[in-house]
Amino acid sequence: MISALEKIAQKEGTPFYCYDEKKMIHQAQEMFGFFQGIKAYPTFAVKANANPHLLGVFVREGLGMDVISIGEWIAARRAGADPKKIVWNGNVKQLDEMQFMIKEGLGWANVDSFRELENWNRAKGLDPSHLPGLFIRINPSVGADTHPSIATGKGEHKFGISCKELPDVMAYAAQFHLPVVGMHVHIGSQISDVEPLIEAINVVSKEAKTYGLDRINIGGGWGIVYAEGSSLDLKSFRKQAFPLLSSFKVWCELGRFLLGEAGWYVVRVGEVRNRDEGVLVITDGGMHHLLRPSLYQARHTFSLPGADGQEQGKLKIMGRLCETGDVLVPESDGLIPKEGDLIAIHQAGAYGFSMASHYNAFPLPSEWLIKKDGRAVCIRHREASDAFLHAVPLPEELEC
Ligand code: LLP
Repeated sequence: MISALEKIAQKEGTPFYCYDEKKMIHQAQEMFGFFQGIKAYPTFAVKANANPHLLGVFVREGLGMDVISIGEWIAARRAGADPKKIVWNGNVKQLDEMQFMIKEGLGWANVDSFRELENWNRAKGLDPSHLPGLFIRINPSVGADTHPSIATGKGEHKFGISCKELPDVMAYAAQFHLPVVGMHVHIGSQISDVEPLIEAINVVSKEAKTYGLDRINIGGGWGIVYAEGSSLDLKSFRKQAFPLLSSFKVWCELGRFLLGEAGWYVVRVGEVRNRDEGVLVITDGGMHHLLRPSLYQARHTFSLPGADGQEQGKLKIMGRLCETGDVLVPESDGLIPKEGDLIAIHQAGAYGFSMASHYNAFPLPSEWLIKKDGRAVCIRHREASDAFLHAVPLPEELEC
C-alpha cells in the first residue's frame, strides 16, 4: 500500500487522498458479522465521503445509503444505490426537497422533529402511500464519550424528538395516516463505550414496542482507533445488543467504521524549520483538505512512505495555510521527515475529503482508489486553480 502511495505521488503530485477497497470490504464484512442472526438493513453514511466510486464499493457489498442532501442523494444514485435502500436524515428538511425525494422514490426518512412531521403531511398531498417509510428520531437523553461537537443524544443537542413529545407526535401521525414504521436513534460519532449505545437502543426498542413498530434504526457512531483512544468493542456490543435487537428489523448508518481506516491523506514536506520548541514540518497540504486535527484536536497517526534513516524527535506537522491553527499532526514524537519526503496521514477515509474546503482558494485534491486487484485508479481529478470561481458570475453578467 505504501509503495502505491509513492507511485501515485510520483505520477500525479501531492496532496491527494487514497483509499483501500480491500479494507473497505473487510469493514463491511465485519459489520455484517455483527448483525448475524438479525434482520439487518445497513447503510453507509454518505456524509463521511460522497465519492460515488467509494459508495459503489459498499453498494456492491449490499449496503444501502444514508443521505442528508439532494447532493448526497445524487451521489448515491450515481453509485447505483437502490432508492428503496436509501434513508434520508437531517434537520430542517425543506418541502421542495421532500417533493423531490418522493418523486424519486426514496425508501425511508428519519423524522427529526414534530415540525418536520407536519411538513411530511403537507408534502404527501392526498395520498400517504407516496411517502417514504418514516422513522421517528428519538432524542434519548443519553450522553456519549466523544468530542462535544459530535455528541447528539442529549436534550441540549438539537437532534430528535424527546420521549415526552412522542405521544403527541404519534397521535398526529395516526390522525393524518402518516406511514410511521419505526424509531431511530443516533447519539453521536466516534463512540468507544458500549454502555451509552446500549442505553440508547434500550430507549428506542422500548418506544417502538409501545407503538407496535417492528423496525428500529440504531444510527452510526462506532468508534475506531486514531493515535489515541480505543475502538468500540464489537464483541461486547453485540452480546449486549443482540437480545434488544433480535425481534426487530434493524437499520444502521455507519460512516467512520466502514471507511475511516481505509483512507490516507498524502502530502509532501515543503520545509523543515528547526525551532527551540521542536521541529516544524511544513507540508504542501493543510486543514483545507483535512480539517479534523484543527477542528476537533483529532490526533491521526502518520507514516513516511519511502523515507528511511530518519531520526526520532519532537515534531509538529502543519499545512501551508495562513494560520497557526493549520495543523495536520499536533506535537508528537516521531520520525522527523526531510524536505521532499512524503507523509501519509492515516485514518483519513471518513470526514477527510468530505469536509475539505476552498479556504485560501487552493484546489480540492485528487482521490485515488486501490482496487482489490492492486490497481490504483483516479476517482477524482485534482481541481483546476480557478475551480472555486465556478459559480461566480463575470462582472458583465452581474444583475442588480
Ligand atoms: N447517522 C447520523 C444521523 C449521523 O449524524 C451520523 C454522523 C452518522 C449516522 C454516521 O456516524 P459515524 O458512523 O460516521 O460515526 N465530522 C465529524 C463526524 C461528524 C458525524 C456527523 N454525523 C468527524 O470528523 O469526526
